[in-house]
Parts: sequence; structure tokens; C-alpha cells
Amino acid sequence: MAKTTLSNYDVPKGAKAPAGSGIVSAVGEWFNQRTPGLGPFYKKHMSEYYAPKNFNFWYYFGSLALLVLVNQIVTGIFLTMHYKPSAAEAFGSVEYIMRDVPWGWLIRYMHSTGASMFFVVVYLHMFRGLIYGSGKKPRELVWLIGMLIFLALMAEAFFGYILPWGNMSYHGAQVIINLFGSIPFGIGEPLTEFIRGDFVVGDATLNRFFALHVIALPLVLLLLVVLHLGALHEVGSNNPDGIDIKKVKDEQGRPRDGIPFHPYYTVKDMFGVAFFLTLCAFVIFYAPTMGGLFLEPPNFSAANPLVTPDHIAPVWYFTPFYAMLRAVPSFFGTAIWGVLVMGAAVIILFFVPWLDRSTVRSIRYRGLLSKVLIGLFVVSFGVLGYLGMVTGSDLRTLTARILTVYYFAFFLSMPFWSAIDRTKPVPERVPEHD
Ligand code: HEM
Repeated sequence: MAKTTLSNYDVPKGAKAPAGSGIVSAVGEWFNQRTPGLGPFYKKHMSEYYAPKNFNFWYYFGSLALLVLVNQIVTGIFLTMHYKPSAAEAFGSVEYIMRDVPWGWLIRYMHSTGASMFFVVVYLHMFRGLIYGSGKKPRELVWLIGMLIFLALMAEAFFGYILPWGNMSYHGAQVIINLFGSIPFGIGEPLTEFIRGDFVVGDATLNRFFALHVIALPLVLLLLVVLHLGALHEVGSNNPDGIDIKKVKDEQGRPRDGIPFHPYYTVKDMFGVAFFLTLCAFVIFYAPTMGGLFLEPPNFSAANPLVTPDHIAPVWYFTPFYAMLRAVPSFFGTAIWGVLVMGAAVIILFFVPWLDRSTVRSIRYRGLLSKVLIGLFVVSFGVLGYLGMVTGSDLRTLTARILTVYYFAFFLSMPFWSAIDRTKPVPERVPEHD
């Protein structure tokens, strides 16, 4: 019978096994024989995944988001070992983790800092997609899955914020769940009850949010991230010049402007990781609350339904959307309009790949109009974020209204301004190819 093995190390009995680095290959070969898909998988996604050679600063954030996801899962598992998901014990168990569990404070600060850093990294990652036209054809699906990740991440962060059962956790949950109560046609009230699992925010609410936070949403996030990368590797990465590197290939069919992801970009990403971890360590050790931005002062007191914090505001990463919610007045005696505007502000991002009608992908080859409008968008999003954190005043409400209008105008008129803006000719090869 013909031998079916492909092994180089299938040596006859008594013959010497290969020495030195051969052991590494032998182990690899051992696995390869038993899981023949593993080698080709590694090649397709690492050593023979040809990524454009001109990746820059903006391309660190995908791998950093992966790193933070892993950090959240690992530190989350350790927190769960001591956390008690009940209204009577949750706050105390977090205090216990902070004071008595060996290294508990570190694990908790790694998790709370990780939550904020997740959004820093993901917002920068999304912004990269916007300025380099990464979601445009053929990467629309990568963008859409990215948006689903963003939705899941927001839900994950919201549920996590409730768990310490501090006073802001409690009243924040109250405000957000009550938003669903503004849905008309008799749907709102029963829906809020269904979400809470009770007539008030309480033990049942905390318990189900715990289940969603520690298992349901992490699973969804992991699955979506796998699909996100799968979709990206099918079509290949975009780059800061928006050039299609698959157009110019060598004799072996490899893109001339592509370099294997491993080792070139694994090394580059390791540099990013080292820098990023240094930054995170600074926050964790010297400024874990970030002046109330990452951990808000009212959350250092236990939940108390009778004491509402002076000013209820979500954590910084939700405040641009929260500012839009507050900016919209109630018409016809219902607050649903603000909820709809806030929801629409997120949903509209799904359509960016189709709203952008420019003939070039990257901002590098676009005219002044796009640059000015995108610049103003960044400023207005930042100011909205600030306005969502502070108490309201007439001037602030007016500003938030103007900026909300700009936010929507930016996206809704994108098909127009992106199409009429002047463009520069896009070179055939990436400029760094020499
Ligand atoms: C947990 C969150 C996320 C993780 C772990 C993640 C991971 C990654 C990784 C590793 C890459 C390849 C490396 C890179 O291009 O930086 C990537 C590319 C990409 N991601 Fe994400 N991502 C996340 C969220 C998002 C979100 C929220 C969006 C946008 C809605 C998005 C849109 C994209 C796009 C368009 C690309 C292709 C970029 C290009 O080729 O230029 N991602 N992502």
C-alpha cells in the first residue's frame, strides 16, 4: 500500500532523529500531519498574507484592539472569581477585590482601564477607516462587521458599568433602561420591565446584565472579530494610499508592494504593543480614574435609589451620543425623538462605505474640501463628547444642537461633497516601493 504520510521525519526505526532546530520543525510536522489545515491556515493569514508595505501609525489599532480584547477576557475571568453578582453583595465584593484579594486592585484597574482604552483604540481604528476609505469596495463587509463589533462593544461596556453596583451604575442603568420606555404604542413600559426583569432596577437586573457581560457578549465579540479578520483577509488590506496592491504582481503571483505579515508586521505591531502597554501602565499605576473620566466619582459610593448623583453622565466614550440625546427637545410630550437621534447617529455609520462617493480612497489624494469637513467633524465630535459630560446650560444646549446638525449633515451630504471634491491622481505603485 502506498504511504500517505508527507513527513520528512518519518524515519526508519533505529535511524537518528534530526537535531537542533529540527525539533521545532518536527513538532510542527507532528501537528501538521494530525491537523493538515493548520499549516495552510498559518500561511494564508500570517507568513503568506501579503500586506501593503506602506502601513503607518494608523495601522497599529487593529492589533491593539485584539490585545485589549484578550486583556478584558483574561482580567475579567479573574475578577469573576471574587465578584458577587447580587445587589446585596456586588459593591462589597468589588471593594474586597480592591483591598483584600492579592493583586485584585491591579486586575480591576487593568480591566477598567482596558475598557476605556478599548474605545480609544476602536475610535482611532474607525477614524483610520474613514480617512483612508478602508470600507469602500471591496471592503464593505469588513466595515459592516466592524460596525456590529462596535454595537456589541457598546452593549458590553454598558453592562459592565452596571456590575460594581455603585451609585452611577444604578442611576445610569435607570436612565438608559427608561429610554426604552419612551417607545410608544404600549411597547415601552412592558419592554423596560422585560429588560429589568422587575418593576425597578434591582437584583434581577444585575444578575442578567452579569450573564450578558461575562459570557453572551464576549462570545459574540469573539465571533465577530474572527469574521472581521476573515472578511479582511479574503480581499486584502487597504493602505494609507488606498492603492490596490494586487494589480501589480511578480512572477510568483505575489503583490510587488506587499510584504509577508509575519515577520514584518508582527514586529511592527510589537513595537506598537510596547508603546501602548507603557501608556496603559502609566494610567493603571498613576491615574486609574483619569480624573473621573475612566472611573466616575459617584461610583465610589454604593448604589442608593434614594440619592441621585448631582449630574448623571455616562463614561466619556458614550458622551458624544449622550449629548445628542440631550440636545433634542421633547415634542408631543415624548422623549423618543432624542432616543431616535442618538440611535440614528450610530446607525448612520453603517452606511459610510456607500455614502463616500469619491473616486479615490485615501485622504492623501483628496482635495481641501474633504480635509476641512473631516477636520470639522473631529472637532465637533470632540466638543459633543465634552458637552455630554458637563451639566446643561442654554448655550451648551444650543451648541450641542448645532453640532448634532453638523454630525448628520456631514454624513448625509457626504455623497455630494465627496463626489465634487478635487482629487489628485493615485499612483500605480505605493510611493515607498523603491
Ligand atoms: C474589537 C474590535 C475590533 C478589532 C479587534 C478589530 C481588528 C482588526 C484588525 C486586526 C484589522 C487588521 C489590521 C488593521 O488594519 O489595523 C482590522 C481592519 C479593519 N477594521 Fe477592525 N477591528 C475592530 C473593530 C472595528 C470597527 C468598530 C470598525 C469600523 C466600523 C472596523 C473596521 C475595520 C476596517 C475597515 C478594516 C480594514 C482596514 C484596512 O485594510 O485599511 N474594525 N480590524
